[in-house]
Amino acid sequence: VQAHKDREGELEPLRWEESGYLVLLDQRKLPGEISYVSCEDYQAVVRAIRDMQVRGAPAIGTAAAYGMVLAALGFRGGDVEGFYDSLAEAADRLKSTRPTAINLAWAVERMFRKALALKRESLESGDFLKVKAALLEEAHAIAREDVEANKRIGELGAGLIASGESILTHCNAGALATVGYGTALGILRSAAAQGKVARVYACETRPLLQGARLTALELSREGIPVTVITDNMAGYVMRKGLVNRVVVGADRIAGNGDVANKVGTYTLAVLAKTHGLPFYVAAPTSTIDLGCRTGEEIPIEQRPASEVTHICGRRVVPEGVDVLNPAFDVTPHELVSAIITERGIAREPYVETLKRLVNPQIFDQGGHRGCQGF
Ligand code: MRU
Repeated sequence: VQAHKDREGELEPLRWEESGYLVLLDQRKLPGEISYVSCEDYQAVVRAIRDMQVRGAPAIGTAAAYGMVLAALGFRGGDVEGFYDSLAEAADRLKSTRPTAINLAWAVERMFRKALALKRESLESGDFLKVKAALLEEAHAIAREDVEANKRIGELGAGLIASGESILTHCNAGALATVGYGTALGILRSAAAQGKVARVYACETRPLLQGARLTALELSREGIPVTVITDNMAGYVMRKGLVNRVVVGADRIAGNGDVANKVGTYTLAVLAKTHGLPFYVAAPTSTIDLGCRTGEEIPIEQRPASEVTHICGRRVVPEGVDVLNPAFDVTPHELVSAIITERGIAREPYVETLKRLVNPQIFDQGGHRGCQGF
C-alpha cells in the first residue's frame, strides 16, 4: 500500500479507501517504521485489532465499524437472512477481539442496528445496495464524530490546566488511539496551543510500551516537550514536585465513575491522591457504559504471557516462570477528580452526572449545560 499523507502532520491510525478497503497504520512497528496494512475483509480487521496493529478504544471501535462495512461488501448471494446472519457473525467476531474497550461493542452494535433498520427494504428490493451504502456512511459518521468529540474534549479539558504546568500521562490516548486529535493528548494539545504546558511526562507503559513508543512520538512531532519515564518512576516525579496533574484516557467507564484504562492507571491514581494531585480521565461519552454499574462488572482482557516475558522480541524472563498480563485495571471513582467528555465535565456524584451526560435529552431541556461544573 502506498504511503498515505498524514492529516495536518498528525499520524493517521486508519483510513477508508474509496475503492473499498481499510488501511491501518501498523502501530506495532512504531516509532521505528511507518508502514500500513490493508484490510480487504472483516477477518483482516479482526486480526489487526487482536494483534494491536490498531489500538486505543475509539480507534478499534471505528476500525470495527469499517470491519462491518467489509463484512457487508464481502457477502455473496441474494439471501437476505443469510446476509443478516453473516453480519451478526462478523459483529460477534469483531466484538470478541478486545473485551474491555466498550467503544468496540458500541460501534459494532450501532452498525448492526443501522443494517437492521433497512432489513425490510432489502427484503423488498432483493439486494443490499442501500444497506451497504448506509453502513459505509455510518462508519464515516462514527469516524467524523470521534474527531469532533476529541476536539471538544480538548477545549474543555484545557480549561482545567493552568499556565506553566507539567502533566503526567499513561499509555497512549492520542491521535493514534482515536481517529484523530486524541482524548487525554487532545487536552494536552489544546492546552499546549494556549501556551500552558511546560512538559508532559509519559510513562513508558509496559508491556507494549505505548507511552514510550507512541505518546512520545506524537508529542515530539507536535513540538510539545515530553519526558519518558519508566512506570516505576511515577512516584519519584510526583514526590519531586515535577508534575501538577495526571490526565489519562479510558476504555470503559462504569455508571458509578469507576474507570478501566491501561494497567498501571490505578497505581497512578493512588499516587496522585497521596500527593494531592488532580487525576483526570478524558473520554468520549461512547466510553461510558451505564450497563456496568461498577468497575467490578467490567471484563478485563488478559493478554498473552509473551508480551511480558519478551521485550521487542527478546526474552527477559526465565523460561517456565509464571506471568500475569491483564491489559487494564480499574481505578475506583473516589480517586477520579473529573471525567472530561465532549458533552461536559463530570464530577462526583458520578452516578448522577454520568447519567446526565449519556442521556442529556432526559435531564436537560436547555442542552448540555447541566453537565458542566458538577
Ligand atoms: O491496549 P491499548 O493500547 O488499546 O490501551 C489503550 C488505552 O488504555 C487508552 O488509554 C484508552 O484506550 C483510551 S484511548 C483514547
